[in-house]
Amino acid sequence: MKRFVHLHELTRTEVLDLLALADRLEKTPEGERLKGKILALLFFNPSLRTLASFQAGMARLGGASFVISPGQGSWQLETRLGAVMDGAAAEHVREAIPVLAGYGDALGIRSFAGGTDLAADVADAAFEEMAAVCPVPVINLESAIDHPCQALADWRTIDEIGVPHGGKFVLSWAWHPKALPLAVPAAAVHMAALRGMEVVVHRPEGFGLPEAVMDRARLAATLSGGSVRETADRAEAMEGAHVLYAKSWTAPVAYGRPEKEAALRAGLRGWCVDESWFAPARPECRFMHCLPVRRNVVVRDEVLDGPRSVVVREAHNRMWTQMAVLHRLLGGAA
Ligand code: CP
Repeated sequence: MKRFVHLHELTRTEVLDLLALADRLEKTPEGERLKGKILALLFFNPSLRTLASFQAGMARLGGASFVISPGQGSWQLETRLGAVMDGAAAEHVREAIPVLAGYGDALGIRSFAGGTDLAADVADAAFEEMAAVCPVPVINLESAIDHPCQALADWRTIDEIGVPHGGKFVLSWAWHPKALPLAVPAAAVHMAALRGMEVVVHRPEGFGLPEAVMDRARLAATLSGGSVRETADRAEAMEGAHVLYAKSWTAPVAYGRPEKEAALRAGLRGWCVDESWFAPARPECRFMHCLPVRRNVVVRDEVLDGPRSVVVREAHNRMWTQMAVLHRLLGGAA
């Protein structure tokens, strides 16, 4: 494996191999496997789980890491090609990334969507421009359109809670006061499709995921024996569900137009997950969310604090699955 940037760059077999390795590393620690290796972490956006789990995972494998948060103790970085740099940014990523790469053996980058150009964000253009100037393996810590580390941890969590191969996975839009990125829903739908699940995207009108995301997920589902469809009908979506994965995301039909987007979200506050959502589901249906989550906005306390919730387990699985990624990228054979 040369990089870990998109789940759709991996075959199902390669994902299963990473998950098996995560199991092995949890059961049988390899505290010297990455001795002498250094992971550079570049965070353009805030984080709790991704930041802590990569540092902890690297340390558990015997390696080290350092973190750069541009503009917070380091120079602000420009990312736009051809920019006239007479503003706040003192340095361009075209120099900064090769410099950081020279201090480490792999580079993780978190860079959220620009949020103005849907085509560019769906193509992950800004992230790929940074990856192109990085001479060491790149790890996607969440880009405009993908969060493969979250997807890998979520797959492991679904396995752990015993959901069968063809189980029903409902990805539901939820209300949020801000227009949020498409990365997590795009990653979740692809993950569940590649796992071979019956995937239903439950969303209001105007919030359908971009066609390129859905087409890729449908192809993964075809190869894995699953299916992918969309609906705005909650009862139909939740009928027989094994998993409800909640997330808010911006309306692609109003991408880059905040007033139109806000108008679409207005009136949708009822899209807050509560126990009643689970009535048509299987009794054992679980609740998933990538975190952070706004309590009683996206999901009610009764669900988050109840036995359905596996959100903390998902977060813990971030570390074990990312250790498998680090092992494959930096640990040599075996
Ligand atoms: N789920 C996730 O990536 O969490 P952070 O934003 O805290 O890293």
